[in-house]
Amino acid sequence: MKKIGVGLIGSGFMGKAHAIAWSGVRAVYGDVPEIRLACLADASDDLARRKASEFGFATATADWQALLADPEIDVVSITTPNKFHAQMAVAALDAGKHVWCEKPMAPVLEDAQAMLNAQRRSGKVAILGYNYIQNPAIRHIRTLLDEGAIGPVNHIRIEMDEDFMADAGAPFQARHEAVNGYGAIDDFGVHPLSLIRTLFGGVAEVMCDMAKPYPTRKGKDGERAVEVFDVATILLRLENGASGLMALSRTAWGRKGRIAVQIFGEKGSILYDQERLNEFQLYLATERPTEQGFRTVLTAPHHAPYDRFVPAPGHGLGFNDLKVIECRQLIGLMRGEPGIVIDFEDGMKIERTVAAMARSFTERRWVKVDA
Ligand SMILES: NC(=O)c1ccc[n+]([C@@H]2O[C@H](COP(=O)([O-])OP(=O)(O)OC[C@H]3O[C@@H](n4cnc5c(N)ncnc54)[C@H](O)[C@@H]3O)[C@@H](O)[C@H]2O)c1
Repeated sequence: MKKIGVGLIGSGFMGKAHAIAWSGVRAVYGDVPEIRLACLADASDDLARRKASEFGFATATADWQALLADPEIDVVSITTPNKFHAQMAVAALDAGKHVWCEKPMAPVLEDAQAMLNAQRRSGKVAILGYNYIQNPAIRHIRTLLDEGAIGPVNHIRIEMDEDFMADAGAPFQARHEAVNGYGAIDDFGVHPLSLIRTLFGGVAEVMCDMAKPYPTRKGKDGERAVEVFDVATILLRLENGASGLMALSRTAWGRKGRIAVQIFGEKGSILYDQERLNEFQLYLATERPTEQGFRTVLTAPHHAPYDRFVPAPGHGLGFNDLKVIECRQLIGLMRGEPGIVIDFEDGMKIERTVAAMARSFTERRWVKVDA
């Protein structure tokens, strides 16, 4: 691969994060081919042209299908709202492109399956934007677990909280429509599920409760019923036998980007919170009781790939850096190297877990994920 031609569909929050990643990945890693930002597509010509100029893309279009027809494009970033992911990813894979699609796969399970089928048919690389698994702190926690530092894990707790839906007076928006999914469990709970998948493997069984703190919101023509659930609490049984609890809220005032993970093993515990993404806490019950206690470990160059960004310990990486790492994983996979990602196969297992949660809530009982 001498050059990688990139197409980007969508130029909002995540579109910008992908553009920054594609622009920075060669400077950060040095071992990847030249990246050519070929074409940016968005919903209107004006927006596409403006964002293409800001992000450094050579051309712009309001027709994402025209972008897919460009033979110079090898890989397509899809950063549009969830309801577009399936049609865009399937078309991109059928056009012979590699795909980097934002999470989750799709609001409907059958559409997610169509995405996976298209990937299998094409043989191309297709990964999802589960950036939090790329954090060097998370990678190191995985190493600690693999090495048995805290012994076999018997219980985990993950809480994900933000407050972007906390204002009861905020107007009705697309995220409140059922066409865009269930609410907290898929818009949001899929991130903790990506961490569980990366650190422990699959979820076997779930028992889910969901809630709507604000059942109606002001729409253009008066009060509208909120069709999704902003809060969820889920009991988990992992495939490795550990029990777990996942708690999700998009209406948690004061929480900005919390993904708090607690891992309890036979010989110790590990704590991590995405709001403090450059550190984790370790408790080793194997140490002398007189000095036992949680220690805070700051990430540093020996927590790869932190060293690619900064040579000094404790200086810290940020959200967009995780996207650069994710981008590098994708390029490696395109070259046939192994990588730590959530690909469409793993993504489908996450989607099935979400579907099992929704069913558990409706039927008010434990549901097996692959049943
Ligand atoms: N990985 C993460 O941490 C993370 C964080 C936020 C959002 N997301 C995901 O990213 C995706 C996008 O979310 P966002 O917050 O960036 O949304 P956004 O609204 O900021 O951006 C969406 C973009 O898609 C464009 N778009 C809409 N319809 C289009 C069409 N038909 N053709 C081309 N472009 C079109 C919009 O104009 C906009 O530029 C969602 O799937 C969301 O779940 C992921």
